[in-house]
Amino acid sequence: MCGIVGFTGSQSAAPLLLDGLKKLEYRGYDSAGIAVLSQEGIHLEKAAGKIKNLDEKIQGGATMTGSSGIGHTRWATHGAPTDENAHPHMSNGGRFALVHNGIVENYVELREELMAQGIQFKSETDTEVVVNLLDLYYAGDLKAAVLKTVARLEGAYALGILCKEEPGRLITARHAAPLILGVGKGENYFASDVTALVAHTKDVIYLEDGEIADITPESITIYDTAGELLEKSIEHVTWDVAAAEKGGYEHFMLKEIMEQPEALRATIEPRIKHGEIVLDDFSLSDSELKKINKIMITACGSAYYAGSVGKYVIEQLCRIPVEADLASELRYRNPLVDEHSLLVVVSQSGETADTIAAMKECKARGARILAIVNVVGSTIARLADDVIYTWAGPEIAVATTKGYTTQVAVMDMLAVYLARRLGRLEDGEYKTLVEAIRSFPELVQQSIDQNPKLPELAEKYHGHNNLFFIGRNLDFAACLEGSLKLKEISYLHSEAYAAGELKHGTIALIEEDRPVIALACYEALLDKMLSNIREVKARGAEVLAVVLDGNREIFDEADDVILIPRTHPLLNTLPEIVPLQLFAYYMAKSNGCDIDKPKNLAKSVTVE
Ligand code: F6R
Repeated sequence: MCGIVGFTGSQSAAPLLLDGLKKLEYRGYDSAGIAVLSQEGIHLEKAAGKIKNLDEKIQGGATMTGSSGIGHTRWATHGAPTDENAHPHMSNGGRFALVHNGIVENYVELREELMAQGIQFKSETDTEVVVNLLDLYYAGDLKAAVLKTVARLEGAYALGILCKEEPGRLITARHAAPLILGVGKGENYFASDVTALVAHTKDVIYLEDGEIADITPESITIYDTAGELLEKSIEHVTWDVAAAEKGGYEHFMLKEIMEQPEALRATIEPRIKHGEIVLDDFSLSDSELKKINKIMITACGSAYYAGSVGKYVIEQLCRIPVEADLASELRYRNPLVDEHSLLVVVSQSGETADTIAAMKECKARGARILAIVNVVGSTIARLADDVIYTWAGPEIAVATTKGYTTQVAVMDMLAVYLARRLGRLEDGEYKTLVEAIRSFPELVQQSIDQNPKLPELAEKYHGHNNLFFIGRNLDFAACLEGSLKLKEISYLHSEAYAAGELKHGTIALIEEDRPVIALACYEALLDKMLSNIREVKARGAEVLAVVLDGNREIFDEADDVILIPRTHPLLNTLPEIVPLQLFAYYMAKSNGCDIDKPKNLAKSVTVE
């Protein structure tokens, strides 16, 4: 999704802005631009396509002089990804340059209003409307003009504003789109996320919805939309620059897959004390917990698939009805939730628009909200009643890996924790589960180490355009994620199917050489899976089976196998999914795809 950066200080702004935009590349974008205030006025440069196009155009920033400016990576929503539609946008007459993330929903009527006053538009964007509205309201008082402008906007925005008549001064405003201020010495920054700031400062201020920041090299003043001053605290982030870089791996995705044991350690270890799962971050009292008669899990994409794992495990252990629902569906289906419902919201970025909307919808109906989030201080984290951070560290590759597995680990911990508090787990079983969760990092490492032939398997299968993932129960939940990983980075069509459903239609698509990836780690249904494997084999499918160490009968049926180390039967998803992430990675590599930045995708989906 779009990225915003801003800088004001005494250094040359353009190279710093360019660097910040590169750090935000992972969010997904299709054009980029920078505006810097120089002696002659605002100098604007933009280019469609990759940031390197802009970089070449401005020679790394050397062609743009000035020590304050704003930059943007655009992910098209209104109008094609062209130079004209790229941000920053200028007001007629060139007094203002402005960058914007989000969507202004009433831009058509605002545009007509401005056109009636003779204002002309060069782009198809909603953003050009905002910058011209600002110019219209400006009568020498920048703050007053900004307040008047944001009062007219409906929808979502994070704005960055540069004014020709206000050297060294930047304004940012936030509503339903992320914005973070970086506090430096004699210089200050803003950005859509921390990744663009950590190389310069680790002291940050998280802007909330309805807040506006007035920034100079020496000061940051924050006020609300009524213009009242606000006191905000500075927070210190711990992510270092290296954590946001590739560390010798060819792709961020591979680095992040390999980091999973470490990420899982960070998620789990602090939460197991003296053999007990301790979720200090979950403040529901015993009497409140007893009143919960339903758990809803909501999220998008892979986070939803982590929630689907949670549904099986929580329901099985806690014996409370659990529903997992896509946030984009839940938000519009008049959900049956009330004060007896616990809504578990799952999100790596904490900024996914549909997830935020579903969460607000359920909150308004009285549900208690528990968020499982990676990015500290993100919108979802701040809106929830309780937050369990996954502490996976920055995830840069667009396709999530450690983000997903740490979400699953938290789901497993939550299930065991709730079951214990509800008195539904015997001591012995509880200890077994806690020990199994504690060993996730080693288990995942083992799962990586014992499957060195994944690149060869990818070489064998990458030429096929249609693949199936089949499984039952928790294996089916893992199929959903395995299949999404493959599709999104290798552009191969694949479908995840509940193995028992095949014969209700889809088996018609099974033919000679069709690859079927059969997940058979849920041992309670192993015989059923064996039958499903035989059914597809009988129709000519080539079966790559994902099986637990020692299950010989499946080895004998399959063409190829991926071996998974054993753990508790309810906790197999983690060791099972990691080789599938690697399989997707090597398939995409064999197909020559842009693995870290798959086409049409964005890391943080901040529009509906
Ligand atoms: C797939 C992927 C997406 C995200 C989804 C939700 O690899 O990364 O499907 O899982 O867009 O994003 P978050 O977790 O940031 O809410």
